[in-house]
Amino acid sequence: MMDDLPLLEVVDLSVTFSSREGEVFAVDKVSFSLFPNEVLGVVGESGSGKSVTSLSILRVLPASSRIANGSIFFRDEGRTIELANVDSESEPVRSVRGRRISMIFQEPMSAFSPLHTIGNQIGEAIALHNLPPGLSRSQRKLEVRKQTIDLLASVGMPTPEQLIDSYPHELSGGMRQRALIAMGLACHPSILIADEPTTALDVTLQSQVIALLSRLRSEQEMSIIFITHNLGVIAEIADRVLVMYLGREMETASVDDLFHNPKHPYTRALIRSMPTIAGTLDTLIPIEGTVPSPNNLPTGCRFQTRCPERVDGLCNVHEPVSIEIEPGHRVACFLSGSPVPQGGTND
Ligand SMILES: Nc1ncnc2c1ncn2[C@@H]1O[C@H](COP(=O)(O)OP(=O)(O)OP(=O)(O)O)[C@@H](O)[C@H]1O
Ligand SMILES: [Mg+2]
Repeated sequence: MMDDLPLLEVVDLSVTFSSREGEVFAVDKVSFSLFPNEVLGVVGESGSGKSVTSLSILRVLPASSRIANGSIFFRDEGRTIELANVDSESEPVRSVRGRRISMIFQEPMSAFSPLHTIGNQIGEAIALHNLPPGLSRSQRKLEVRKQTIDLLASVGMPTPEQLIDSYPHELSGGMRQRALIAMGLACHPSILIADEPTTALDVTLQSQVIALLSRLRSEQEMSIIFITHNLGVIAEIADRVLVMYLGREMETASVDDLFHNPKHPYTRALIRSMPTIAGTLDTLIPIEGTVPSPNNLPTGCRFQTRCPERVDGLCNVHEPVSIEIEPGHRVACFLSGSPVPQGGTND
């Protein structure tokens, strides 16, 4: 897998929001790659910049924000398209968004219009992307309905012939989630970005959706960026993992390395706080303190205020940059060898 060229390369991406206090960095010099047929898990506590990173890839950021730095390269059908440094409504972006890269958004209710049946909404995406040429109007209608039913069946809807005519509010949470996934797949994307697609679901449904996405990934030769704050879900679905904290990349590793050889104190803290690895509730150790405000970042490493391994005079003074410590394993921590800037440790 790693021998292939990446499908997607995000390089030094920074995204800012304008606020009364000035520009606030929601994402700060983040780099990662996504390879063909790979699931990249993105994990981190609330506010780490997971959603903003994915909204940047699709160029659907809120109006108050902008890409301040970096590049996003997407390789598709033999060409490379740069998505960060062009207008968000330019042809390259429009040719990719919702066509070659699609997204399952974090808020399930806002993704569907309440006024139309899910069949009509998914069918609209199919009609845009996947119809054979030369059909009459009535043939098109039949073909779209057939493809929509097939798609709903493929995401595990038990009675797609009936559910196709439901309105979003008539579906159960699990069925609505499946409909959302179907919507994301309607264009046969090369990359599916799934932002917390299981958070609202109970544990059984969560595993079903994860199994479903894993199966679709193999069947459709699609890559997935899977965003979650749940490391248990990451362990189930991801090949590689990007750990983010307050807009920075803390650690990137294969899923095996991440769980068996975690290097960043933040990654280790996340693992200790994770119910399925810690075993019972008594052995769960929550991460101390709270995530600082991005308006008022700590000096030095962003995690130092909560880090059990902080070296005073170093970690609270300089911000470590990410370095590759082994092939495919990147860490941003002085304890793992991030270079100490000139001037040393101040003490
Ligand atoms: N609409 C917005 N207006 C202003 N700032 C925003 C907005 N959306 C996000 N941000 C800023 O970007 C930071 C990162 O937010 P983001 O939504 O990407 O986090 P996340 O990792 O997806 O968190 P969560 O796990 O809660 O979904 C936030 O802390 C906030 O400072
Ligand atoms: Mg989010």
